[in-house]
Amino acid sequence: MTPPLTHRLATPDDLDALRALMAAAIDELQKPFLDAAQIASSRTIMGLDTQLIDDGTYFVIEAEGALAGCGGWSRRATLYGGDQTPGRSAALLDPAIDAARTRAMYTHPSFTRRGVGRLILSLCEDAARAEGFARMELMATMAGVPLYRACGYEAMEEVLDARGGAAVPLLRMGKSIALPASLSGEDPPAVRA
Ligand SMILES: CC(C)(COP(=O)(O)OP(=O)(O)OC[C@H]1O[C@@H](n2cnc3c(N)ncnc32)[C@H](O)[C@@H]1OP(=O)(O)O)[C@@H](O)C(=O)NCCC(=O)NCCS
Repeated sequence: MTPPLTHRLATPDDLDALRALMAAAIDELQKPFLDAAQIASSRTIMGLDTQLIDDGTYFVIEAEGALAGCGGWSRRATLYGGDQTPGRSAALLDPAIDAARTRAMYTHPSFTRRGVGRLILSLCEDAARAEGFARMELMATMAGVPLYRACGYEAMEEVLDARGGAAVPLLRMGKSIALPASLSGEDPPAVRA
């Protein structure tokens, strides 16, 4: 039987294990989508963003104590990338006008297709909604696109990122996370007779 998935916020003590998980996910799970040069290039433009851990917005998923996956969200402007990626911005977003970011999703190759990614997305969306955000955006790898589509994200813009060497195809995607009025607790709009 598949062990149940549990979740908690990541801490600095998780850093080494998170780096190892991300390296395995980048190297193994992108093989059907990218060539070797693009995977090498991905290591520059993906990976661990310790700001998310400091912010308390990065989740760890475990299965009977084993690290099964990780991912998070952000109230800051950086859309994607790790600590080593150039061009990051820690500017705070405005929930009234900006989309929160879905960030740095990785599942260990031994735990794919067990709902780890789906669980992280729902945790992120609930947390961002609780801070007043009505929309999420992310930059998807080709390996990530099927998960995001399955979870309601829609394509916005195709991007090629060559900052790591070989150009890596990416897809900016977004999703409304606003609750329908019937579930939000707000009064429905008045209807004229
Ligand atoms: C993308 C990634 C996080 C998906 O993780 P996952 O835990 O396997 O995803 P889930 O099990 O929650 O999948 C949920 C649904 O997404 C879709 N999906 C996920 N991976 C898929 C794949 N490889 N092919 C087709 N559909 C897929 C399916 O609809 C799936 O539901 P199903 O298994 O019931 O059919 C994982 O493949 C990964 O770590 N990839 C490498 C790193 C990466 O590119 N991360 C994305 C950064 S933007």
